[in-house]
Amino acid sequence: MRQTIVAGNWKMNGSKEMVNTLILGILQGMPYIESQVIVCVPYPYLSQVESLTTHSQLQVGAQNLNANPFGAFTGEVSANMIKDFGAKYVIIGHSERRTLYGESDTIIAEKVKIALENDLTPLFCIGELLEERKTGKTETVVARQVNAVIDKVGIESFKNIIIAYEPVWAIGTGVTATPQQAQTTHAYIRSLLAQNDVNIAQSVHILYGGSMNPNNAKELIACEDIDGGLIGGASLKSDDFLSICKAG
Ligand code: PGA
Repeated sequence: MRQTIVAGNWKMNGSKEMVNTLILGILQGMPYIESQVIVCVPYPYLSQVESLTTHSQLQVGAQNLNANPFGAFTGEVSANMIKDFGAKYVIIGHSERRTLYGESDTIIAEKVKIALENDLTPLFCIGELLEERKTGKTETVVARQVNAVIDKVGIESFKNIIIAYEPVWAIGTGVTATPQQAQTTHAYIRSLLAQNDVNIAQSVHILYGGSMNPNNAKELIACEDIDGGLIGGASLKSDDFLSICKAG
């Protein structure tokens, strides 16, 4: 039985004051939640969130990292640095990174590798564009994205990887995949992993992301192969985020 995982992706939102209010709000609700809960915050707030969440069950992640360990990479942040500031998780391969910053499957696989080498759990994101869904390419696209990482780090590494299936057309649009659409793709992703290792395929967490909110979370998470959510917009309000956490 896979425990539900709910992760917030704050994206480029926040201020010291907002972070304080949001984290304290989430912490108040934590005793009533059985899901594993993670917040993935912008780099500058990692330290603040680390301090606020000490001795709590709330876990902390970053939203990106550089695939190199250190060096002349102006403006970049390494796996070691985010770990130093309390992150145990890191989002890798989010569609905004893939489309706005040109991150290829190869770069993403390298980032997954360095995260694992630093004992960070990647929240590895995959998902198809609207055009790809319309033309029946969803499975080809997610297979390509997943296989790039399997080829780089091996199937065994998926014991320490969380997958987030986020159809790009559902991110930030208010259009959510129907539970059936999401379940079908989640089951397909699990079957891809099963071609390599049946036990790992059964144990890996596959989260759904894309306009998940308090109204649709329960029905999505109830699907057999949906093990929780990666939440953008609705993770910025503690009440909304907590009610999604309770849906698990
Ligand atoms: P959304 O974002 O919940 O605002 O659609 C999800 C994500 O991008 O991870």
